[in-house]
Amino acid sequence: MTKRVAILISGGGSNMVKLVESMVGDHPARAVLVGSNDANAAGLKKAAEMGVDTFAVDHRPFKGDREAFQAELLKHLKAAKPDIVCLAGFMRVLTESFVREWDGRMLNIHPSLLPKYKGLHTHARALEAGDTEAGCTVHLVTPALDDGPILGQARVPILPEDDADTLAARVLVQEHKLYPAVLERFARGDTSPLYLG
Ligand code: GRF
Repeated sequence: MTKRVAILISGGGSNMVKLVESMVGDHPARAVLVGSNDANAAGLKKAAEMGVDTFAVDHRPFKGDREAFQAELLKHLKAAKPDIVCLAGFMRVLTESFVREWDGRMLNIHPSLLPKYKGLHTHARALEAGDTEAGCTVHLVTPALDDGPILGQARVPILPEDDADTLAARVLVQEHKLYPAVLERFARGDTSPLYLG
């Protein structure tokens, strides 16, 4: 049975595009919905151009009421009956009640080698710490932020001339390889971690 995948984004959606592009041929899953907390997110237009249904629920009118915002998000998601939910550059923190709805079947990509640098500004923090390598992680989403079981990681070197932008660009290239590879394994039922680079 082909797995149904919904993807949540907040911005450009480059990871979302790679995921959607990867779900072709004998891939065990198909993208059925792309949603965003920003109706102007550039990624929504890209998803529509690739023929995937889209929706937007603006978080701002909810004035910090996460449960109310998420209830609206859930309505759209449940209508699409996804087997798997992928967070791809989705920048809203989700509460325990929402995460429990998708226990064991919601994935996220984070631009650091977790458990290092949970949260924001991961590349600047790695540079500040004088690290020699950085990377990205795909993990299962649990109620604790950026904390769930790791499904895959990819490493890149940090170069002497790097700043946060050049490092982010190098890591993003790996994100675009790692996330589709992990999603395909996960949709086949393989949750053993994949390590690239
Ligand atoms: C990526 O680096 C991702 O790891 C982070 O936000 C960025 C989003 O990029 N959470 P995009 O929207 O997928 O292009």
